[in-house]
Amino acid sequence: MGAVLRSETRTTMFPPPITIFFYICICLIFCHFVTYSSSSEEIEVVGYGYTISNVNNEDLLGTSLSANLNLIKSSSIYGPDIPHLNLVASLETKDRLRVRITDSINQRWEIPEEVIPRSSQYSFHSLNSYDLNQEPKLSLTSPNSDLIFSLHNTIPFGFTISRKSSNDILFDASPDPSDPSTFLVFKDQYLQLSSSLPRERASIYGLGEHTKGSFKLQPNQTLTMWNMDNGANLDLNLYGFHPFYLDMRKGSMDGRVKAGATHGVLLLNSNGMDVVYDGDRITYKVIGGVFYFYIFAGSSPEQVMEQYTEFIGRPAPMPYWSFGKKILISTIYGYKDVSDLENVVANYAKANIPLEVMWTDIDSMDAYKDFTLDPINFPLDKMSKFVDTLHQNGQKYVPILDPGISVNTSYATYIRGLEADIYIKRNGVNYLGQVWPGPVYFPDFLNPRSQKFWGNEIKLFRELLPFDGLWLDMNEIANFNTSPPNPSSNLDNPPYIINDSGTQKPINTRTIPATSSHYGNITEYDAHNLYGLLQSKATYKALKDITGKRPFILSRSTFVSSGRYAAHWTGDNAATWNDLAYSIPSILNFGIFGIPMVGADICGFGPNTTEELCRRWIQLGAFYPFARDHSDKSSTRQELYLWDSVASSARKVLGLRYRLLPYLYTLMYESHTKGTPIARPLFFSFPEDVTTYDINSQFLLGKGVLVSPVLESGAVTVNAYFPAGNWFDLFNVSNSVSAESGKYVTLDAPSDHINVHVGEGNILVMQGEAMTTEAARKTVFHLVVVVSRSQTSYGQVYLDDGETLEVSGENEEWTLVRFYAVLHNNGVFITSDIVNARFALDQRLIIEKITFLGIPKKKRLSKVNLASNELNIENGIVQTHADNLSQFISIEVSALSQ
Ligand code: NOJ
Repeated sequence: MGAVLRSETRTTMFPPPITIFFYICICLIFCHFVTYSSSSEEIEVVGYGYTISNVNNEDLLGTSLSANLNLIKSSSIYGPDIPHLNLVASLETKDRLRVRITDSINQRWEIPEEVIPRSSQYSFHSLNSYDLNQEPKLSLTSPNSDLIFSLHNTIPFGFTISRKSSNDILFDASPDPSDPSTFLVFKDQYLQLSSSLPRERASIYGLGEHTKGSFKLQPNQTLTMWNMDNGANLDLNLYGFHPFYLDMRKGSMDGRVKAGATHGVLLLNSNGMDVVYDGDRITYKVIGGVFYFYIFAGSSPEQVMEQYTEFIGRPAPMPYWSFGKKILISTIYGYKDVSDLENVVANYAKANIPLEVMWTDIDSMDAYKDFTLDPINFPLDKMSKFVDTLHQNGQKYVPILDPGISVNTSYATYIRGLEADIYIKRNGVNYLGQVWPGPVYFPDFLNPRSQKFWGNEIKLFRELLPFDGLWLDMNEIANFNTSPPNPSSNLDNPPYIINDSGTQKPINTRTIPATSSHYGNITEYDAHNLYGLLQSKATYKALKDITGKRPFILSRSTFVSSGRYAAHWTGDNAATWNDLAYSIPSILNFGIFGIPMVGADICGFGPNTTEELCRRWIQLGAFYPFARDHSDKSSTRQELYLWDSVASSARKVLGLRYRLLPYLYTLMYESHTKGTPIARPLFFSFPEDVTTYDINSQFLLGKGVLVSPVLESGAVTVNAYFPAGNWFDLFNVSNSVSAESGKYVTLDAPSDHINVHVGEGNILVMQGEAMTTEAARKTVFHLVVVVSRSQTSYGQVYLDDGETLEVSGENEEWTLVRFYAVLHNNGVFITSDIVNARFALDQRLIIEKITFLGIPKKKRLSKVNLASNELNIENGIVQTHADNLSQFISIEVSALSQ
């Protein structure tokens, strides 16, 4: 009966117009594909795509789905297609979905598990249980995950990953039948996959390392990734490799997608690639490896970072001193000798400008050989005394290391490397490169023996000179030679040419050739981009083993997960106003790459800076997570005391940086435990305010300190965006901005001033100014409480000794104090609680002052009750003290109205 009714319905009813339209579309698409296929006899394309078969919900827990992919038709452009592929989609956690596509027959290069652990990372058991009798499903999800993966049995096949809660498609690899550039292509040396994006709603950030004028990626660009010493030049592939992006979505018209819903996408692959972003699509063109896509569900930017760094590894904790102001002025011949170094230190002290770390560049080496000192200008006895004095003054010392080991038979390091047989080879012999010392061999950090070699060299050198951290440079690997390609291999000259250096330079250009070989028969072609990561990892282990303390490593080259070991600076920027501005997108990018400790060379690396530029740069640079002044040997010197106006700005802004040290250090702890950046785009705190998606010239430190620098010559005002709320100038809290909803405000920015505001809802824990972090740590605390009319204000401070290896283990000595403040009828009520009260319980940590900001006039405070002592308030400032941490942590302030 039912069947009859259905058939009647079909034959007697005229289909509604929408259905007709649908059928016409299907016909058109089909015809188009057929036409395209037949005409393609003449016009061959890169690939014709694949169809699916043998779909299998293969694991009994229902967390993965696999399918065979069968080539539709072969094409010979960029080499033959791989006919049989395998696709596996896995819901690895409720917020992380992985899609892996590879050759189903032959094993291909994949990043080794020891470099980025993967299979062991499953932590999720879906509530689905797989019924062996049921038909295989084309989709994969679980009741407790918002992600859904769907395979499309189209010709060619496609897939999508969507959010169940809003139907928003996050990754859309369904091909456009009329456009073969959207089809999956899989050849030995060319892989292509494309995902379409909702142009009006998607804002994309990441995919680096590049210097960019705009933090949000602008359509119509190719982002090339291949680690390269390219200066910090605009739009070129640079030192690091991070095929990860954040996609912030604006709300949808139907209201289902809320503004600020964010997800992340990682292509975990180490081969050279071009990522083409045209606004409507993102297309990956990769020259090897396999496709390993990871989708991180978010849905807030913080949650994406938490999920991303849970997978790649959380950022390393950094020592307290590394948040001080670091200074180094010149590279090769900049520092002439030890007395030059001593004078710089003395001049900083004389000018009353904080100086935390002295660095030496390659000029302190003997003929640019790693682990040596120039016996004439930087002799060991003088350097030892110099480093000793720094240490006595609470300052630190960091020397540089390059990977190239000078080929020189009288150089013990070289001989030990030769004996251990740890150098990268080509055609069976050690590959000879050319860097500062002349001919060099490069340690192969994929070789387990290299760890021992490298660790031993570091140990021997540290026994001579007790340095506090290491600076790893030139590790892309930079090579002054470009070796000719090996004609009998297709690795040096792959069929698809990525856009290296913006002009499709051969991938061997100024690095070691792709046909070089690493331990385990791994080629440089595959492992090139891992070098900086592997060197940082080996250096981290060495420093950890030698000192037993928290290592500090600064690395120029980075890869996905480098943040577990190293900080980063943005390389050889130009001393120009443009580069001053570009430093903000660069720093924000590294935050989302999971490397939060990042900064740019303050005042510019080269050529000559100017007084005005240097002044504006220190004003901004004082708020980089990693703040260091550094320049090229051929530039004029740029120590901050050299110009009165720069010195006075430096005193002012570094004074605030040092007062903010507990806040910055607590942000480091947050990064280490949750992956959130230290310097953040405004949309991290205001994801629903879509104006923040386009901001390039301001950033937040943590959730509530807004930095709005001057980035133009001659400007004495700055047009700054303020998301909704009350904001107070941290240099002068009586200057405030009140924004009912987000708005641009023109602020005064006279030559010695940068605008730094704290926003409503935040409690900042600050300390006093000092010349070193060691001295600053001993000063009294000051709370700045910015009350809010709508929310509980919140702030926290992380306390430990600043150098212990472990920062968050339950049995370790650290303490986290959290403060909350609410407005109530009688004024403000503050409470606090404490997590893991193991550090400094017996120490005198005094809160000397609490500044309340944003209290409505009628609630002017007159008295505060702190730990049952009544205290007077003058001009909104409470003078108080708590004698030890137990009082500090149990601080309770209730404010009474007049
Ligand atoms: C290149 C680095 O980027 C720069 O910071 C350094 O000064 C020079 N190498 C010399 O070591």
